[in-house]
Amino acid sequence: MLYNTSVEAINRDLINAENIKALLEEPSLQKAAELLRAGEVVAFPTETVYGLGADALNPRAVERIFQAKGRPRDNPLIIHIADKEELQELIKGELSCRGEKLISAFWPGPLTIILEKSSEVPPETTAGLDSVALRMPSHPVARVLIKLCRRPLAAPSANSSGYPSPTRARHVLNDLEGKIPLIIDGGPCPVGVESTVVDIRDEEINILRPGGIPEEELERVLGYTPRQSGTVGKDETPASPGLKYRHYSPTTPLIIYNRNHSKQLTAFLKQHRDKKKVFIICDETDISDPGTNFEIVRMGPRADTDLIAHRLFHLLRSADKEENDLILIEKLPAAGLGKTIMNRLYKAAADEI
Ligand code: TXA
Ligand code: MG
Repeated sequence: MLYNTSVEAINRDLINAENIKALLEEPSLQKAAELLRAGEVVAFPTETVYGLGADALNPRAVERIFQAKGRPRDNPLIIHIADKEELQELIKGELSCRGEKLISAFWPGPLTIILEKSSEVPPETTAGLDSVALRMPSHPVARVLIKLCRRPLAAPSANSSGYPSPTRARHVLNDLEGKIPLIIDGGPCPVGVESTVVDIRDEEINILRPGGIPEEELERVLGYTPRQSGTVGKDETPASPGLKYRHYSPTTPLIIYNRNHSKQLTAFLKQHRDKKKVFIICDETDISDPGTNFEIVRMGPRADTDLIAHRLFHLLRSADKEENDLILIEKLPAAGLGKTIMNRLYKAAADEI
C-alpha cells in the first residue's frame, strides 16, 4: 500500500453545467488539482467512465498511471481538455474541416479524435506514437478539474488493466485502493461505456473503438458510413494499440447467449448442474426448469440500449462474486449503443452459445 486512498464526494446538486462557478470553489476539486499539478494521479468521473488522470505533459506523472493500473506500456492514453483553444498546442498543423465538423457536433461529449501530435506531447503519453488521442469530456466535474489544474489531463479508465471499466467511485476503490491518493466521487457515470475513438488523419475517418457516440450519429454528421478497424492478432500492429488486449473481463467466466435459442440455453444450464450458481443478466428469458441453481438480474428492456450501457459495467462487476461460477448475458441487437455493448461483451466473454 503506497497511499491511504481517500474518496471525496461532490454534492450531487452541484453537478450540472449551470454550477461551474460553485464547482470551481469545491475544496476537494481544488485539492485534486493541486495533486495533479504536483505530478500525482487522481481518479475522477467523466460522462463515460471514471478516469485516472495525470498531467499529460509530465512524463513522470504519466508513468504513475501505467503503474497504478498495471497497464501495458505500449497502450497510449487519451488527453482530456476543457476548451477547444487547448487543442492547438497538442496537435501538429491546423485542424481539418472534418475535424471542425466532428468537434462542433460532438464536443463536449464521448468522442475521442486521433490526430498527429505536436512536440509538446511527450512520447510516454502516446506510447511512442506520432499521433495523439484527444477528447473534451462533458461531465462538469471533469471540466472543472481540468480548468483548475490548468493542464491537459491524460486519463485512461480508472480500473485495473483488463477488468471492467469503473462507472462508480466504489469500482475505482475496489481496483486501485492503496495505489492512488484520491478518488473524486461524482456518482454513477451517465453514459456508462467509454468514448468512441476515431482516427481523423485521413480524408475518410476510421472508427478504432465503438463507444458512447453510436455509429449512426457519426454517419449522420459525416454523410457516409465510416470504416471500422477490427481486432488484431497478438503480434500484429493494431491501428489502436488497445485493440490487441483482452478487456472488460470479470474473473468469473462470461458467456453470451441468444435469447431466441432458449432450448440451447436450457440444455446449457442442464449441463452445468454441478455449478454453485449461474448468474443470468437479461431482458427476459424463457428457461424451463434445468435443475441448476441460477439467479436472474434484469438489464432493462433490450430496446433501451442507453439504459443498458449505463448499467453494463456495474452489472458485470456485481455478478463477479465468489458464489457465482458462471455469468450468462443476453446478446443485444447491434443498433445504437447495442453495437458498443456487444463490442465490450465479445472482448470480455469466454464463449458464446
Ligand atoms: O471514455 C473514455 O474514453 C475514457 C474516459 C476516462 O475518458 N477513457 C478511456 O481510456 O477509455 P482508455 O485508456 O481506457 O482507452 C483509450 C483507448 C485505447 O484503446 C487506446 O489504445 C486508444 O484509446 N488510443 C489512445 N491513443 C491512441 C492513439 N494515439 N492512436 C490510436 N489509439 C489510441
Ligand atoms: Mg480502458
